[in-house]
Amino acid sequence: MMMKRIFEVDPWKVTTHKFSKEDKRLQESITAIGNDYMGMRGNFEEGYSGDTLQGTYLAGVWFPDKTVVGWWKNGYPKYFGKTPNAPSFIGIGITVNGEKLDLAKVKFSDFELSLDMHQGLLSRSFVYEGKDVKVKFEFERFLHIIQKEAALIKVKATVLEGHAKIDFDSTLDGTVVNEDSNYDERFWVPLGEDKDRRTIQVKTKPNPYEVPQFTVLLKQALRHNGEALQGEVSSQEAKLSEKISVELDQDQSYELEKDVIVVTSRDVEEKDQADVAENLMSKLQAKSFAENLAEHTATWEKRWETSDVEIAGDAAAQQGIRFNILQLFMTYYGEDERLNVGPKGFTGEKYGGATYWDTEAFIVPMYLAITKPSVTKALLEYRHNQLPGAYHNAKEQGLPGALFPMVTFNGIECHNEWEITFEEIHRNADIPHAIAMYTEYTGDDSYVKNEGMDVLVGTARFWAARVHWSKWRNKYVMHGVTGPNEYENNVNNNWFTSTMARWLLKYTLERLPLATKEAQERVHVTEEEKEKWQDIVDKIYLPEDKDLGIFLQQDDFLDKEIRPVSEIEDQRPINQHWSWDKILRSPFIKQADVLQGIYFFPENYTKEQKEKNFDFYEPLTVHESSLSPSIHSVLAAELGKKDKAVELYERTARLDLDNYNNDTVDGLHITSMSGSWLAIVQGFAGMRYDHDQLKFKPFIPDNWNHYSFKINYRGRLIEVYVDHQETKISLLKGENLEILVNDQKVMLKEGETECLKA
Ligand code: BGC
Repeated sequence: MMMKRIFEVDPWKVTTHKFSKEDKRLQESITAIGNDYMGMRGNFEEGYSGDTLQGTYLAGVWFPDKTVVGWWKNGYPKYFGKTPNAPSFIGIGITVNGEKLDLAKVKFSDFELSLDMHQGLLSRSFVYEGKDVKVKFEFERFLHIIQKEAALIKVKATVLEGHAKIDFDSTLDGTVVNEDSNYDERFWVPLGEDKDRRTIQVKTKPNPYEVPQFTVLLKQALRHNGEALQGEVSSQEAKLSEKISVELDQDQSYELEKDVIVVTSRDVEEKDQADVAENLMSKLQAKSFAENLAEHTATWEKRWETSDVEIAGDAAAQQGIRFNILQLFMTYYGEDERLNVGPKGFTGEKYGGATYWDTEAFIVPMYLAITKPSVTKALLEYRHNQLPGAYHNAKEQGLPGALFPMVTFNGIECHNEWEITFEEIHRNADIPHAIAMYTEYTGDDSYVKNEGMDVLVGTARFWAARVHWSKWRNKYVMHGVTGPNEYENNVNNNWFTSTMARWLLKYTLERLPLATKEAQERVHVTEEEKEKWQDIVDKIYLPEDKDLGIFLQQDDFLDKEIRPVSEIEDQRPINQHWSWDKILRSPFIKQADVLQGIYFFPENYTKEQKEKNFDFYEPLTVHESSLSPSIHSVLAAELGKKDKAVELYERTARLDLDNYNNDTVDGLHITSMSGSWLAIVQGFAGMRYDHDQLKFKPFIPDNWNHYSFKINYRGRLIEVYVDHQETKISLLKGENLEILVNDQKVMLKEGETECLKA
């Protein structure tokens, strides 16, 4: 399997001492930082003239880019929602004795670039080697996780040899463009610059789709040794520049701090933005860079206290899980219920900050256990708020009920490929499935009884109309779908999609009588509807092959020329080597499909069924969706296939750090990062929950010495520690709880640790 590791292995840092122009974009993706309000790729403050993707993104700020398709089909979404590449505020252009500092061109040595995962701090240093002069530059940058509108940057120049006149040019730049803009348009219109207040303001272009325009104001202020500094300011359309010059002799150094405030019309009206930014800047500057950093770090420490996963004995595995937790939290920490988790977070454009089924299928199971229940509830409410969009989507397809979108910012579908927009509808049960996960895990059924019922009934009505009766089979069938395996389109009776639809109808029927009176009145399900739904539950066709003992991914799957992935090792990833036609006809599977269904409902299948399906499908799976390895790792662990579980854990945990899918240049795979946590907690530790029962079945990879993690469960904080001799489970906080470990009852008591022999 291909991999490319450009950062050193270290438990708390992601560091490199090498700079290679070819890997610049990859390096930028991996050193992205964010604070769940905004984020950016690891671009260089002083600019870079080589190949780079300058990228800054603001949570919840988006633009509807008019659809591009070859041939228009009725029902296509009119636009594709994109997170516009936001005005860039990190710029600090530098010249030394007249030469522009640009690592694509100048001579330099001692390069170091490092992301400190404990602190969420990005730092970089190098020695510039000019004519008769050597200057060491050290940069630090972080996005404040308490004062979210604030970005802080510090650059220190130390002359090692010679004399240097250094010109700094601190900039705000609203002229940025998206690389993925459909019509090469600029998404931002300038509103004005204010030289006195050091601000620029821009607004997203008007659009014909009734999507609100977003206004953003950026403000900068410079400091030296904590004291305010006034440079020479100039501006041009959507740009502001402030220049400071210093002369330094050998061994002298100079530190420049750049403070930035970013406000958006999501929180502050356009006309008030300058005043609000002024106040926020005063608040920020009431503290020094070091004080702000200490505050920021203390908050990160608190987050790590309850969410860190410790792995002893395998530094690469350790680094992988921490990197993933850090990047996830930098993207989303549940502090703003209007937001969601984009597949690339703030780290790139492709997939950007839009919401996918990834959230419910991959983020919810992890966030339920490591954040407060209110965080998951906010994710559920996000979808509830978007129900009108889901009704719109179903109507566009000529169907009743609600169809949640594959890609969205506001509930309205904006994916532009028919095989996904119209056919990859499994999302319409995966998304409501999070309601069941929330209810089971937290024990709080108030949501499913009320708002949740709107979601369940809306989607149930869609499913009941999307299947049809086959007289020939005497069953309900579902034609023309794409399962999670996007390497097959327009298939009939995809087992996963039909299983999910069946689950949704069954769950809705079970929960409906328990709903509040208001909810029942709101959804108003008739007796005929209930009968029809029950009939579908009883008679939906779920293809299987009894001889092989497997569920069939779709009707024709066994007609394919079945051969294992091991025969095509040299042609992977196939999506970069093969024509689409060749991929579609091949037996190779992009990501868990049948196995995704078995993963969702572990209680519904016997060990033998799980084993047969795993042994059949896993060898055919190329894992070319980053969402794939973790699901397989969890199942492999349950089936006692330890080596496979560990191999797939490594792949999921270090997917970006080792660039396994050869696409991390585009940005990080944020939504699949939870997979490494799932692989450890659900896989290695075997955590499951059902019917108020929490269970573990731990094992430890041979080359690890121990691992430990903490989970929240119904008001309790539980720590699990596993080594080769024993498993220790401690109830750190909360009421006593009886759990099952390896099927044995264990009573947890507050402040006590239960030790169980391996
Ligand atoms: C996967 C989808 C996923 C999307 C965004 C695709 O490659 O096949 O399942 O929702 O990426 O992560």
